[in-house]
Amino acid sequence: MQKILVTGGCGYIGSHTVVDLIANGYEVISIDDNSRSTTYLLDGIEKITGKKLKNYKVDLKNFDDTLAVFQENEDITGIIHFAAYKAVGESVAEPLMYYENNLFSLINLLKCVKEFNIPSFVFSSSCTVYGNPDAIPVTEQSPIKKAESPYGATKQMGEQILCDFAQVAGTKAILLRYFNPVGAHPSIKIGELPLGKPQNLVPAITQTAIGKLPQMTVYGADYPTRDGSCVRDYIHVSDIAHAHTLALEYLENNRNKSNCDVFNLGTGNGVTVLEAIHAFEEVSGVQLNYKIGPRRPGDVVAIYANNQLAVDELGWQIQYNLKDMMRTAWEWEQKVKQDEELMKKQNPVLN
Ligand code: WQD
Repeated sequence: MQKILVTGGCGYIGSHTVVDLIANGYEVISIDDNSRSTTYLLDGIEKITGKKLKNYKVDLKNFDDTLAVFQENEDITGIIHFAAYKAVGESVAEPLMYYENNLFSLINLLKCVKEFNIPSFVFSSSCTVYGNPDAIPVTEQSPIKKAESPYGATKQMGEQILCDFAQVAGTKAILLRYFNPVGAHPSIKIGELPLGKPQNLVPAITQTAIGKLPQMTVYGADYPTRDGSCVRDYIHVSDIAHAHTLALEYLENNRNKSNCDVFNLGTGNGVTVLEAIHAFEEVSGVQLNYKIGPRRPGDVVAIYANNQLAVDELGWQIQYNLKDMMRTAWEWEQKVKQDEELMKKQNPVLN
């Protein structure tokens, strides 16, 4: 059985990928310092897979602690690297924190990859590397433009660091550029857990619908799009997760191909913010309380993927549509609320 190290295994996309890897016969361990996640999702992973995920609570910026994990697990055959800060707005306010965390972590990890000759490495990248594209849909050959934020810059630099390393190391790398991951695992036992006020659209929608937020704001409805709001390519997190399993299989079966392949992970369908809201209202039956506000600095007007390369080369087949994304996101939000109410009953001090 192949052992895969997932960094950020307690996080949103990391936990969903752990579930998919285990379902496909891999042994999985995780490194997650829980600075931006909790162990709440570990329980859900165990309920879905029957396996208890071993998570090393290690800060990847600490090289010795990271190396110790590899010394204890010399049979790691592949790495999927999710652990990074990812809030666009926060990165503008705290650039050094983003460059230090996202790049030092990656470099420490690659030093361990070199030390232990790990053959396969999958990197969590983002469509944000394309900036404001001149032409959509974007392909993997679309120009990489100046990043709109330090977060986006760390993804661009991370891709460069990894590919330069893969040219001289025996490691083969794949960069997966996610568009907008949303929704929750169909079991509704794991999902997205934004810390604090949600920055992203779908958790803002579901938290408004459940009453955690009084009202949400649509950031601009005066863009040159079909209804004035921004266009994105929303993709179910479980479809994203399965693409990582396929990427590992691709790396195992294509050792003589290039050292660093890139794949877009999107549906190929552009959806506006208002269309996303209406899709949510349709599946939930909830009339969403939102207002139209000013544009958000740094927002891209419109972007969605040409995903043909991932379909052709990885054998990736998308399973979930926009209504599935909204339905699972809504059911997960309701489940989290039930758990919070149960915890308050069991621990009155939390009230
Ligand atoms: C989507 C649209 C907002 C919240 C970023 C990163 C990307 C990935 C996902 C990590 C935009 C609008 C949002 C709200 C709104 N990060 N919106 N009201 O900015 O496309 O992508 O997060 O994996 O790499 O770049 O996602 O969900 O924040 O915004 O109107 O309360 O929803 O203006 O048009 P984004 P998002």
